[in-house]
Amino acid sequence: MHKIITMNKSRNPFVTGAYVSDEYFCDRVEETKKLVRILTNDNHAVLISPRRMGKTGLITHCFHQKEIAGNYHTFFIDIYSTASLREFIFCLGKQIFEILKPHGQKFIDNFFSIITSLRPAFKLDAVTAAPVFDIGLGEIKEPEITLGEIFKFIQSADKACIVAIDEFQQIAKYPEKNVEALLRTHIQHCNNGIFIFAGSQRQMMQNIFFSNSRPFYQSASLLYLDVIDRDVYTEFVIKHFNASEKWISAEDIHAIYHFFEGHTWYLQSVFNELFSLTERNEICTISYIRYAIKNKLESYQPLFQGTLSLLPERQKEVLYAIAKEGKAQNITSAEFVKKHSLLSSSSVQAAIKQLTEKELVTENNKVYQVYDRFFYLWLTENYGTGYHLK
Ligand SMILES: Nc1ncnc2c1ncn2[C@@H]1O[C@H](COP(=O)(O)OP(=O)(O)OP(=O)(O)O)[C@@H](O)[C@H]1O
Ligand SMILES: [Mg+2]
Repeated sequence: MHKIITMNKSRNPFVTGAYVSDEYFCDRVEETKKLVRILTNDNHAVLISPRRMGKTGLITHCFHQKEIAGNYHTFFIDIYSTASLREFIFCLGKQIFEILKPHGQKFIDNFFSIITSLRPAFKLDAVTAAPVFDIGLGEIKEPEITLGEIFKFIQSADKACIVAIDEFQQIAKYPEKNVEALLRTHIQHCNNGIFIFAGSQRQMMQNIFFSNSRPFYQSASLLYLDVIDRDVYTEFVIKHFNASEKWISAEDIHAIYHFFEGHTWYLQSVFNELFSLTERNEICTISYIRYAIKNKLESYQPLFQGTLSLLPERQKEVLYAIAKEGKAQNITSAEFVKKHSLLSSSSVQAAIKQLTEKELVTENNKVYQVYDRFFYLWLTENYGTGYHLK
């Protein structure tokens, strides 16, 4: 007989990975209400925010709310790494199978009786004899037919289905023609399925949903996810520190919040580190904060070095220049070129196009900055004049 071993050590309350529970989730009260309301009113939603701001967390949090959990089947796919309609279909089919598999054999039979073209994917694990979904991409011979079957399955499900598709802008890069029109048509005809389209590339997402020439034009309600309010986040940090008899001042939390401009994942990472550095009955001091950030940068150093090693010289120079400025403006001006000893305005233009496409640099109203905030700090420390916390 197996004995359940419970860990005595309490968990770090600052989660940096997948959603855990309400207790470790900060705020998003209004956003949760709004998203739940959109979905329960049978509308589709578009959720846009920069990377690591909390889209996946918000969707998962909504899926845990009783209005949703009790009444819908919920599915979540991240299509960031998919490059074709075939891969999209594979991802969606597999997710539906995995979520509904615990419902038993009857469900599995039903799944493959409707989605007949995925029947070869049904296998029994050689060791455990548990049903598994295992298919080579090449076995999806006619993607459009399989897609139609998947929608037929959603349509026939015993409960309404909510399907969240993360990094949805990816579909615009698929080589197949008419993917948007095809998906839009299926979604329009499926009244048992509600969709959340999440994405981090604002421009691409806006083009898909708000250009009147595109199939998804105005087909979903928009929710733009911003930073968590400073004071609400401060209260969350203090509450979790105090619950473990650890202490930290609101002033220091504010300093970190401003330093990372409230960007959720960076804050969570730093407070996760700070929480573990601070002993019970101890006060977290500024030296801990410096140490925590230093630890973070060190742990990512190999990754950052790897990224730099893949960049051509011209792009690296422009990246350093932007990091030195923090928020860089007029980057193709003669002044900027001269100040940072760059080659020419046109070479900056070519480099910035590449850096943006690689998501190393982000642009907002012609102001450029390094996308990853830890990478930015590491660059200023190694190729600039360093950073100042306060
Ligand atoms: N409201 C919140 N309270 C506490 N932690 C959060 C909250 N929202 C997100 N996080 C944490 O921040 C990190 C980033 O969040 P999440 O993965 O949801 O962002 P994302 O916008 O989906 O990012 P990506 O664009 O990379 O997919 C996660 O580790 C998550 O645990
Ligand atoms: Mg996400």
